[in-house]
Amino acid sequence: MALLKTEKLEYFYQDGDRRRRILKETSVSFDKGKFYTILGQSGSGKTTFLSLIAALDEPKAGKILFEGKDIKKIGYEQYRRDNISIVFQSYNLVPYLTAMENVLVAMSITDNQLPDNHQEIAYNLLDYIGIDRTKADRKVNQLSGGEQQRVAIARALSTNVDIILADEPTGNLDEEMELEIVEIFKELARDHGKCVIVVTHSNDIANQADQTFYLKKGELKAYE
Ligand SMILES: Nc1ncnc2c1ncn2[C@@H]1O[C@H](COP(=O)(O)OP(=O)(O)OP(=O)(O)O)[C@@H](O)[C@H]1O
Ligand SMILES: [Mg+2]
Repeated sequence: MALLKTEKLEYFYQDGDRRRRILKETSVSFDKGKFYTILGQSGSGKTTFLSLIAALDEPKAGKILFEGKDIKKIGYEQYRRDNISIVFQSYNLVPYLTAMENVLVAMSITDNQLPDNHQEIAYNLLDYIGIDRTKADRKVNQLSGGEQQRVAIARALSTNVDIILADEPTGNLDEEMELEIVEIFKELARDHGKCVIVVTHSNDIANQADQTFYLKKGELKAYE
């Protein structure tokens, strides 16, 4: 059974009396242990799609199934809290907290038990992603854009959930850092069994995915 499945997902925005259809009967499925990418032009609806599968917004029609269960029945909030981690396009960090504290806050959101040494884990995760101890203790509004991006990724990795969603997570990073981050996503999927879904404009990232989808005119198609 697929970990996550969408069935005829529909979404539109209402512009006055005009409806702008963003997703048209989108049916697609995602498995554990795989690294997926979603490509598509700016404005094609990639972020919209991610917010639906993250249960941050509700589809106009169609269903999203998690392990075969309708997420509406599970309850959007519970589904999100227990299963989803998101790295947003605009990092969504808490500016007055340090990098380490931002990771801690994320760890405490899920119902999953916090490990005893959670501070240590937060520092280690940050270090893993290239934020040393000095920077980890700095408020995030005193970090560069690329560094904040990394904190956002460390935060997403800190909760022990099955689905990691990322919206252009490497947009502000140089090529070398981008490759390192892609390695981390691959590792999370292949060694830790996560389902990793990344929206990107980068063909280099897409080339490393197990499967790539292309969003065009409201349709999400597997990329050959
Ligand atoms: N709240 C909203 N109300 C009306 N239209 C919206 C709203 N949010 C997004 N849109 C429009 O819906 C379309 C899809 O937006 P979305 O953010 O999903 O695109 P995207 O593929 O993520 O683009 P980008 O690559 O630039 O991030 C765009 O044309 C956008 O302007
Ligand atoms: Mg977007």
